[in-house]
Amino acid sequence: MRICRTVAEMRAACAELRAEGTLGLVPTMGALHAGHMALVGAAVAGCNRAVASVFVNPTQFENPDDLAKYPADTERDLEMLRAAGVAAVFLPEAAEIYPEGAETIVETTRLANMLHGEVRPGHFRGVATVVTKLFSVVRPDRAYFGKKDYQQLHVVRQLAQDLLLGVEVVAVETVRDADGLALSSRNVRLTEAQRAAAPVLQATLQEAAEALRAGSTVEAVTEQVRARIEAEPLAQLEGFDVVKSGVFVPATGVVVGQGRIGMMMSAAFGPVLLLDQLEVDV
Ligand code: PAF
Repeated sequence: MRICRTVAEMRAACAELRAEGTLGLVPTMGALHAGHMALVGAAVAGCNRAVASVFVNPTQFENPDDLAKYPADTERDLEMLRAAGVAAVFLPEAAEIYPEGAETIVETTRLANMLHGEVRPGHFRGVATVVTKLFSVVRPDRAYFGKKDYQQLHVVRQLAQDLLLGVEVVAVETVRDADGLALSSRNVRLTEAQRAAAPVLQATLQEAAEALRAGSTVEAVTEQVRARIEAEPLAQLEGFDVVKSGVFVPATGVVVGQGRIGMMMSAAFGPVLLLDQLEVDV
């Protein structure tokens, strides 16, 4: 497995790998877990060659403390990627991605500023900018993203389409612990009590799906979700939203018969923000 620290090295490695067939990219911020490895597994199985990036992107953190505390274990990450059959890893310093004087940003103007984007201003602009740069360096045929970061997935799809990048964005199912908690690099920062409480996210989403299917309105279900999370003293609800799948337009009223909908939730456990998502047919 090649380890590339500069744009020039990664470009050269990817040029050679592309000559061997389809090239898949898995962008990550490191601290890899089974959720990332599901993306890597899909890329290795779905493409002739798969590469990954490990880069904690500063521009998508609106909270400097969250950036400073983001877990990192590069040696372990590299071992896991090597064992999974990844051909090259891009491991740049921030100055390689954001050279002195860089001023260009990428923003999906609607998607970046709605729902989670409203509570995390600038976050999706940071994601869109770094993902565009990674696509430009690697020029993959396919890129793999988890459904857990549901709005991010739509942001990336939109930018790939709008900027005519010719990259197929592949969505991969969320990987969960046995109690339903979605795997996340942030889970290691939870205290024991917060970890025990965190499955409330997925449990609440499952209950919300049942209520929507039974004919409750989105507004009533939003109240139900708020009450359920408020009853968990260690969790603070940041956002709950229901959108029409694919188009990512907020849903209102009764949704029964509207096809597929997506629900997204974010909740803080102390300083740790967790996200979860559920897509269902209604
Ligand atoms: O999902 C992530 O880990 C990050 O947002 C991504 C896509 C690697 C961009 O920094």
